Amino acid sequence: MAKSLIAGNWKMHGNAASAASLATELAEHWTDQNSVEMIVFPPFVHLTQVSVAVGHSGVAVGGQNLCQFESGAYTGEISAVMLADLGCQYVLVGHSERRALFGETDQAVAEKFKAAQQAGLVPVLCVGESLQQRQQQQTLEIVARQISAVIESVALEGLCRAVIAYEPVWAIGTGETASPEQAQEVHGAIRAQLGDLGRETTLLYGGSVNPGNAAALFAQPDINGGLVGGASLEADDFLNIAQQLIEQE
Ligand code: 13P
Repeated sequence: MAKSLIAGNWKMHGNAASAASLATELAEHWTDQNSVEMIVFPPFVHLTQVSVAVGHSGVAVGGQNLCQFESGAYTGEISAVMLADLGCQYVLVGHSERRALFGETDQAVAEKFKAAQQAGLVPVLCVGESLQQRQQQQTLEIVARQISAVIESVALEGLCRAVIAYEPVWAIGTGETASPEQAQEVHGAIRAQLGDLGRETTLLYGGSVNPGNAAALFAQPDINGGLVGGASLEADDFLNIAQQLIEQE
């Protein structure tokens, strides 16, 4: 069985005080005995406060991005080792906002993925198509290509030890969600691409997940949890979504 995960991507929101208070509230309501794992991805500069606030609650912490290089003259960048040093266990790799707004190529994403694993982090590889690509019926091809680039870098075995998040770009921050059937179609194709090695790989859905649509998405056979943006900034909503995943167990 793939491990179930509920992850919150806080993107570039909040300040030191709000990050600590959100993390504290989650930690207070989360118990390590849950069959589901919770991860939060705060901005880099709030990682320390958040790590301290979650303490031993079982809530895991991750970075939203990383540099593909180990160390050196890379002004403004953060390495995988630096994230691990701050207590991160996970890191988002290739989020569509990184790809679309900051020019990350499939090649750079593959290098970042490799660097994360070399430092002992679990990468959460984000893949997904734009609205135009969906309208042109290229969804499965685009997602398969994004995944293949990583397989070329770390082999199928490496990819299958990670987490993959399918996030259709048109559903991110728009309030528009992929229907459970649309999401399952892509998740099923990803699972097929991974083959036998990927039977236990955790596949997340992301894109306007909220307390109202989570249960139907999580009920799909190849959806093992969610990567939540906006709704993860409110502890009540995020915990509610997490509870819906626990109830699917
Ligand atoms: P929203 O849940 O705000 O659509 O964001 C999804 C996302 O990008 C998570 O990484």
